[in-house]
Amino acid sequence: MIFRQLFDSVSSTYSYLLASRQGGEALIIDPVLDKVDRYLRLVRELDLRLVKAVDTHLHADHITGLGALRDKTQCITVMGEQTKADVVSMRLADGDRLTIEGLALDVVYTPGHTDDSYSFALPDRVFTGDTLLIRGTGCTDFPNGDARHQYESIFGRLLKLPDSTLVYPAHDYRGDTVSTIGEEKAFNPRLQVRSVEEYVEIMNNLKLANPKMMDVAVPANMKVGLHQDEIARRGWAANANEALALAGKPDVALIDLRERSERERQGIIPGALHVPYPRLQESIAPGGVLHELVRSTGKRLVLYCAFGERSAMAVQAAQDEGLTSACHIEGGIDAWKRANGPLVR
Ligand SMILES: [Fe+2]
Repeated sequence: MIFRQLFDSVSSTYSYLLASRQGGEALIIDPVLDKVDRYLRLVRELDLRLVKAVDTHLHADHITGLGALRDKTQCITVMGEQTKADVVSMRLADGDRLTIEGLALDVVYTPGHTDDSYSFALPDRVFTGDTLLIRGTGCTDFPNGDARHQYESIFGRLLKLPDSTLVYPAHDYRGDTVSTIGEEKAFNPRLQVRSVEEYVEIMNNLKLANPKMMDVAVPANMKVGLHQDEIARRGWAANANEALALAGKPDVALIDLRERSERERQGIIPGALHVPYPRLQESIAPGGVLHELVRSTGKRLVLYCAFGERSAMAVQAAQDEGLTSACHIEGGIDAWKRANGPLVR
């Protein structure tokens, strides 16, 4: 595995770059906006292809790099299903797997610091966001924080991982880089409590100042979505109702860009073909399945995903390949469902 821990000294944030091999797909956890060029240089130097940018939660102390990384690499942005961010390409829930080529991280819902806090676990390590820090825990005094939930997340979930599991947090203010579950059980002062009440008592009396960047970072981080209106202005978008009318037509090929787990969870539009977003480029290039489908049948590609972000990037890519009738479903399956579009499982 290729693994890099990257540090932003302004916000004391750790970001993590992971890939299974040189030349392969990579994902980044908790990227910071100001460091995006640095990450992309490293991705190039290591001969990787960034396919996912993930935030463990809606950050209050720095502006996320998710939107900029998506705009520069067309990668998929990922957060938990509870997030208040306007649009991310993919939303995960507890028990899902966060996957790239050769790697699958278990998705563990660990609310408490915020109600959209997630941890991501590999067999030997866990990325704990601001839930469990080294010799500390993330504050729980934000409007959607909850010390009781954090206790459950830490004691009920994270500390159940093997003691040897490496702990990689989203922040450290003292220069520590990594710990283990066993070490935190033994030495994290906040975890030396006998009851949830005792933990809540500690957390409610920390009297921490809000992060310096909070008033800037939170609103910015809630607006990371791709501007789908530009795609619509070019006539490449169908709203959900227009898509309903298109769906049954014989000259239309509906293309589902989501991953298998999303299709299983949310259902699929009847008759849709499955081309996962990471395989899109090869499918729409000359010789690719979709390119040849359009050429031989004259069908119109109607691309869709979960929220319209991947499909908006895909429709641009299809247009670039000369598939000029291609369009996408604005707002994705989410909008389709709200328009009472039929779904099968
Ligand atoms: Fe945080």
